[in-house]
Amino acid sequence: MKILVTGIAGFIGSQLAKRLVERGDTVVGLDNFDGFYHRATKERNLAELRPHIEFIEGDITDRPTLDRILAGKQFDCAVHLAALAGVRPSIRAPWRYSHVNVVGTAHVAEALVAHGVERLIFASSSSVYGNNTLVPYQEAHRVDEPASPYAATKRAGELLLDTFFRLHGLSSTALRFFTVYGPRQRPEMAIHSFARSLELGQPLTLYGDGASSRDYTFIDDIIDGIVGAIERAPRGFRIYNLGGTNPVRLDELVKQLGIAFDKEPVIFREAQAPGDMLQTWADISRARDELGYAPKVLLPEGLRHFQQWLRGNIPW
Ligand SMILES: NC(=O)c1ccc[n+]([C@@H]2O[C@H](COP(=O)([O-])OP(=O)(O)OC[C@H]3O[C@@H](n4cnc5c(N)ncnc54)[C@H](O)[C@@H]3O)[C@@H](O)[C@H]2O)c1
Repeated sequence: MKILVTGIAGFIGSQLAKRLVERGDTVVGLDNFDGFYHRATKERNLAELRPHIEFIEGDITDRPTLDRILAGKQFDCAVHLAALAGVRPSIRAPWRYSHVNVVGTAHVAEALVAHGVERLIFASSSSVYGNNTLVPYQEAHRVDEPASPYAATKRAGELLLDTFFRLHGLSSTALRFFTVYGPRQRPEMAIHSFARSLELGQPLTLYGDGASSRDYTFIDDIIDGIVGAIERAPRGFRIYNLGGTNPVRLDELVKQLGIAFDKEPVIFREAQAPGDMLQTWADISRARDELGYAPKVLLPEGLRHFQQWLRGNIPW
């Protein structure tokens, strides 16, 4: 298949592209090396891919760039991962998050329609569930109280794409990822930043009393889910949870990290941060039944893979 991947230099994008190249797909990637974290890290993510893909440095909010990539190329589908990610920073920059995540998604969808691409896979997020207390989260649950601008932009992206199907026939699959971790994880995410602190012998800053929980999902399982969506998602607009199905409390995560890194965590506590959810937990029945999604990697094993990667990639 011929597949466009936006956000290809990032954590999930570069891991997806690796898998697609291994499958024999033709991959074209777009990324603007946004300064959310170091360009050098993203260049490293891309390094092994470069000989096997066509890469364009550019911005999803720049329509002429999208037109140049898509014109006359006959893509089978696009996987749209480019976004400003992260809950807490979105509270300080709602305009930027809205611009990239909502306006950018509209640009991508418009350009796909204009150039006859019929299918889009969209990176949505478990954050759309807000502080819904009904767990595990199902796709049909209410998602009209997002707790952060980031979550609101992801829900807006879903709604836009639903509209694009009804108006223009662009089929879209929104995948709600649940806290993804593993090699190349974004440096500001909890597992990665805690692990660096452990390695440096520094205290770990924990927000809240340790009782919040996350449904951590290993990157290889997420990539299986995206590939499942590329191969099997139905026509129309459809949402799927991609989670690990085993929520873990924050204090348990820290304990498991201590075991994986063979270090005793020293903890510095801060109040619960605004915008943070108290829990996430995916019901994956729909993805299992319709996409063949079956997450395999439990946290202790996933943390061992992450530890090996982190130690093999110094300096970070
Ligand atoms: N990692 C997770 O746990 C998680 C959870 C839920 C949803 N998601 C979503 O999955 C997607 C990928 O997340 P990630 O963790 O790999 O993040 P990431 O920041 O590593 O990757 C995103 C990439 O998009 C690029 N980008 C940002 N703005 C752009 C623009 N205007 N034009 C072109 N490229 C741009 C960045 O440079 C980056 O390389 C995002 O949409 C994110 O919101 C991630």
